[in-house]
Amino acid sequence: MPGMKKSDYLKDTVKHIEIAKHNVVPLVDAMGDMAFSARDLARAAKIYDAMLQDRNCSVILTLSGSLFSAGLKKVVTDLVRSNMVDAIVSTGAIIVDQDFFEALGFKHYKGSAHGVDDNELRQLHIDRIYDTFIDEDELRVCDDATRRIADSLEPRPYSSREFIEEMGKYLSKRGKTKDSVVLAAWEKRVPIFVPAFSDCSAGFGMIEHQWKNPGKHMTLDSAKDFLELTKLKIEARDTGLLMIGGGVPKNFTQDTVVAADILGEEAPMHKYAVQVTVADVRDGALSSSTLKEACSWGKVETAQEQMVFAEATLAMPLIAGYAWHKKSWKKRKPRNYSDFLNKEAAKAA
Ligand SMILES: NC(=O)c1ccc[n+]([C@@H]2O[C@H](COP(=O)([O-])OP(=O)(O)OC[C@H]3O[C@@H](n4cnc5c(N)ncnc54)[C@H](O)[C@@H]3O)[C@@H](O)[C@H]2O)c1
Repeated sequence: MPGMKKSDYLKDTVKHIEIAKHNVVPLVDAMGDMAFSARDLARAAKIYDAMLQDRNCSVILTLSGSLFSAGLKKVVTDLVRSNMVDAIVSTGAIIVDQDFFEALGFKHYKGSAHGVDDNELRQLHIDRIYDTFIDEDELRVCDDATRRIADSLEPRPYSSREFIEEMGKYLSKRGKTKDSVVLAAWEKRVPIFVPAFSDCSAGFGMIEHQWKNPGKHMTLDSAKDFLELTKLKIEARDTGLLMIGGGVPKNFTQDTVVAADILGEEAPMHKYAVQVTVADVRDGALSSSTLKEACSWGKVETAQEQMVFAEATLAMPLIAGYAWHKKSWKKRKPRNYSDFLNKEAAKAA
């Protein structure tokens, strides 16, 4: 509205939901005796708990969509700190523009999807994600932090996993909050992969780094990412996938079974799989493709899989909260796959 200042729009922050504060076990169990999406969600929560009970199963979490700006960051931080996740594959926006951004001390703000003038927001340097506002000037600080990390590195090819480790190290010295998935994963030695790493705030940092350092800059090696995730799959053997949204993280992770086969190594199909998505199966696209369909490609076993057609801010606190309060994770040990991958990288160098 005319006369409004930036500070008038950026007032109320999005708060991250804490699964520990809400015991949803009785609710989810009761939903299991209903029908439709309620029963699907309850089955998905039980499959996730079964992954955690299975001593041989490593859990890979895949993330896409605008999950952390929407208040789901602490859910994932708690999963990492509770040994409920052994590796993460994500979009860059979640890891850099949302998690790393907040770890630098910035916030996401409650806005509105209706009745706002997006031209006015643009003039005020406010970006909008549906009903959420972000200070564009603060995002530029985030871009620049990734540029500074890139500038500090020896010029050679890096996997996104290696670069995100550097971001974790950076936050351990300069971060403004402990509530960060990048930081928690670095501390717990949980690798984070972002296969399309340039397609986010980090991309702006990377191009500036390469522009200013012609011929002596670091590069991102996407095939190295895929090889590292495949090595993790071969090492883990039994795996369970908890997939929130679809996109590149879903396919990249599922494909490790085929990748291992191509390398002549044995890796079973993913033993457990859950996907939460709003995608429509009729479009034939990857994000909507069912886990049964993935079986035809030799990627996912059909015995313990469940699609949940729901929006993630509703479904994830219930699925993750159910598994957290069931406490099967208390008997799990950290897998330390970041250390494993660093040793593999040293051997290859
Ligand atoms: N999301 C952002 O705000 C944003 C910002 C900057 C850059 N990007 C980049 O854009 C690319 C695409 O990422 P994306 O995050 O937009 O994913 P996307 O739109 O590719 O998501 C893939 C699919 O996941 C499902 N999905 C997404 N959000 C969901 C939700 N809340 N609940 C249930 N299902 C959901 C949908 O089926 C969607 O088609 C990435 O490279 C990312 O880094 C995204």
